[in-house]
Amino acid sequence: MKEIKFLYQKAVPLEMHKARIIQKINLLPVDERVKANQKAGNNAHLLKTSQVFLDMLTDSGTNAMIDRQLGAMMEADDAYAGSASFDKLDAKVRELFGIDYFVPAHQGRACEHLLCRVLIKPGMTVAMNHHFTTTKGHVKLAKGELAELLKEEGWNARSSCPFKGDMDLEKLGQLIMEKGPEQIAFVRMEAGTNLIGGQPVSYENIRQVGKICRKHGIKYMLDASLLSDNLYFIKEREESCRRMSIRDIMKKICACFDIIYFSGRKLTSSRGGGIAFRNEDDYIKVRNLLPVYEGFLTYGGISVREIESMAVGLEETLDENFICQGPIFIEEMTNLLLQNQVPVVTPPGGLGVHLDATRFLPNIPQSQYPAAALHVALYLCSGIRGTERGSLSEDRDENGKEVYAKMDLLRLALPRRVFSLSHIHFAVDRITWLYKNRELVHGLRFEEEPETLRFFFGRLLPVDDWQKKLVDKFKEDFGDSL
Ligand code: F0G
Repeated sequence: MKEIKFLYQKAVPLEMHKARIIQKINLLPVDERVKANQKAGNNAHLLKTSQVFLDMLTDSGTNAMIDRQLGAMMEADDAYAGSASFDKLDAKVRELFGIDYFVPAHQGRACEHLLCRVLIKPGMTVAMNHHFTTTKGHVKLAKGELAELLKEEGWNARSSCPFKGDMDLEKLGQLIMEKGPEQIAFVRMEAGTNLIGGQPVSYENIRQVGKICRKHGIKYMLDASLLSDNLYFIKEREESCRRMSIRDIMKKICACFDIIYFSGRKLTSSRGGGIAFRNEDDYIKVRNLLPVYEGFLTYGGISVREIESMAVGLEETLDENFICQGPIFIEEMTNLLLQNQVPVVTPPGGLGVHLDATRFLPNIPQSQYPAAALHVALYLCSGIRGTERGSLSEDRDENGKEVYAKMDLLRLALPRRVFSLSHIHFAVDRITWLYKNRELVHGLRFEEEPETLRFFFGRLLPVDDWQKKLVDKFKEDFGDSL
């Protein structure tokens, strides 16, 4: 916490919680990591957790829950219809978002599915600051077009701009002129963003985009999956909001939107998701689809225990001591890596630390997936698993041509309250070693390539015998250390 001073040593991020339940983790010897990686086809999604030391793949469903959430789960009202647990969540959504109509769903992408199904007619455009993989998938399935309107600075991996997730207002204006407002299904703001380094969106930008949408009668939608980090950054970085409470910032943000949806796995440290609507007609259309795709309105395809824990988790997004925990650890790890000259995305954002594979491995062409190669190399030398956020996470176009990402990043997610500072120091040490030995890392190629969301199940091979050389050097430098 910022307001707690250290007198005799450099301040470090201080947790305002203590561990009461822990899980044992295991660092395999390097030769076993080599075997595990081969078996997983150079794809960390196919590793078992017993083969992973620090699992930084995601924060989705892996943030540590709090005692109050677990307690609430025991009070759940198990019922197919009319569960009192749903009423608690419904009331919490109304209170926090200030929006009257709510449906739960089994996770964030289920919300995207329902929204795209109801709001997109074939050929319509969905404008957004930046896509998330599942959002893009659902827009395409509904035969919609995607327009990404991120401000140019958002693509700059080395920046000091505090809000790189902002939408470009001019580009939005142009798009509306070109297509006509009736051809725009909705404008979606992802706050914070995911694929461009967890970068936040400013309140001012959220408000300005809302003004434009209202002027043209276009629906304005918030993907609030990463809102807790974004709330923290608005309070920290936006002068006009510095003296406001998180609750008031939340209110002001939500007041701008017609529709707000979220992944409960991310926002509330539990499971599930949900959509809040200002407009009753949209709500009714989605609500009527719910029993076909999710389940009845009062459980939304998940256990009512999770509905209880979502309600508590939502309340926690207003507690600065909780929502700062991810960002301050990410900032610490980013700064330690920068001190060692390792290329990382700046400024530090939410969700995780993002290694910039383009600058880390400049000799690997995008056709050989530099961020994926970096990912495998990091697993081999540390047992750390992250997630590729670059060209491998894009699918080929309809002609089978590669679509190269504008940024090739390796995301090392820091799920809230899960890792300690010693874990961060271990990660920084191994990443720095890898950076010093980066010329040993070469690319990957597909052995088996699924057509959609290929990064989940695809299998890859190294382009030459670089992994053996990297492991030999590891043994030379680290001796018999794990
Ligand atoms: N929107 C954003 C911004 C997300 O980050 C995610 C998930 C979703 C929607 C979909 O939600 O997983 O509950 O279906 N992000 C996860 C990640 C998967 O690892 O970043 P979901």
